[in-house]
Formats: sequence, C-alpha cells, structure tokens
Amino acid sequence: MPPRPLPPWPTTPPAHGGIRLREVDDRDVAMVLELSTDPYIAQTGTLSPDATEAHARAWIERQRGRHGEGVGYSFAMVDATTGDAVGHCGLWLAELGEGRATAGYVVAPSARGHGRAADALTALTAFGATVPGLHRIALYIEPWNAPSIRTAERAGYEREGLLRSYHRIGGQRRDMLLYATVLHSP
Ligand SMILES: CC(C)(COP(=O)(O)OP(=O)(O)OC[C@H]1O[C@@H](n2cnc3c(N)ncnc32)[C@H](O)[C@@H]1OP(=O)(O)O)[C@@H](O)C(=O)NCCC(=O)NCCS
Repeated sequence: MPPRPLPPWPTTPPAHGGIRLREVDDRDVAMVLELSTDPYIAQTGTLSPDATEAHARAWIERQRGRHGEGVGYSFAMVDATTGDAVGHCGLWLAELGEGRATAGYVVAPSARGHGRAADALTALTAFGATVPGLHRIALYIEPWNAPSIRTAERAGYEREGLLRSYHRIGGQRRDMLLYATVLHSP
C-alpha cells in the first residue's frame, strides 16, 4: 500500500522545558556519533555501533526521508538555550490509519541526567495531539530500563501491561512493557 501522506512538518518547533525539537540535519553528526557509542542504541535502532562519520551522515539522510515516506517525524532534541543537539526522538505513524502511533527517544550519553527525554517526549506528545486522526501513542520499554520508564511516566504515559517475548533485540526475544497515552477520547 502506498504510504499515507503525513501533515506538513510543524511550522512552530515543538518544545517543552529545556528542549526544542527540529528536523535532523548535518549539524547533528557529532551527536549521532556519540549515540552510536551506546551499545543498547545500536541494538535497538538502525545506527551502526561505533559509527564512522559516513555512517552518521547516512543515518541522518535516512531520518530526513522518514516524513516523505509516510513513516513519521524524526526529530533532533536540541537544548533550547544553547542550540546544541542532545538526542533524537521520533513519532512513528505507520498505523495512523488506525489512529495509532509509537514513539522512541534516545539521549547522547554525555547529555543524560537532566530529564531531557521527558521534556522531549512531552513536546513530541503535544505535537502528536495536533496530527489529525491520531488518538494514541504507545511506547515499548524493557522492564530493566528505569530511566526510560521514569521518562514515560513524567510525560504522562500509563503502563498498560507486559508484552512477553515481544521484540527481538541483540539476538534475543525480550519482554517489553507497554506504556501509552490517549490523546483524544473516541
Ligand atoms: C532513557 C534515556 C533517553 C533517558 O535519558 P535522560 O532524559 O537523560 O534521563 P535521566 O538520566 O535524566 O533520568 C530520567 C529519570 O530516570 C531516573 N533514573 C535514572 N536512572 C535510574 C535508575 N538506574 N533507577 C531508577 N531511576 C533512574 C532519573 O532519576 C530521572 O528521574 P526524575 O526525573 O524523577 O529525576 C537515556 O537513558 C537513553 O538514551 N538510554 C538509552 C536509549 C534508551 O533506552 N531509550 C529508550 C528506549 S525505550
């Protein structure tokens, strides 16, 4: 099926607390290289572990294609004061026809410890509420991932259950907690 066209890129950058979201671009190479040093990020996404600059640029290009492909919105998380890129988050809309999205977030190791993912997820969720037809955003989180669980809760997501053996990560089936927020009542 051809991808469902997504609404245009937001004219006002989504923002909350100390974080602003913008389209990923070549300014993000250093941040992407740092993300690739986290083995868990390499296991869960499409970024090569210990990426080279060429890998990072190719990853950025893929992210920039996501909107046009109808896959979703791929955002750089930027420190609202300094403008420095500190991480990445995405609102993934392959199931927009069913009113559903998923979201994901990563913060560069050197930028962690300031609740930036919660700010980014709050901004991303408010942006999601402006997407016509979107009713629900889900997060899949491994039970050991306390910082991610706390991020979800701080952004207002509720735990809906444990999905046993749900995702394959690092060559193993993993249980995932399902967290979600409902944007609009039916
Ligand atoms: C998850 C992630 C994005 C959070 O980044 P961050 O915003 O810098 O997170 P913080 O370090 O500020 O921690 C967020 C919260 O978790 C808490 N926390 C952190 N480590 C914790 C631990 N080991 N046990 C319990 N709570 C912990 C913090 O105290 C903070 O809570 P608070 O807001 O109530 O103070 C980051 O750890 C990351 O990129 N991890 C790798 C990728 C990943 O797991 N992404 C999510 C996939 S579902």
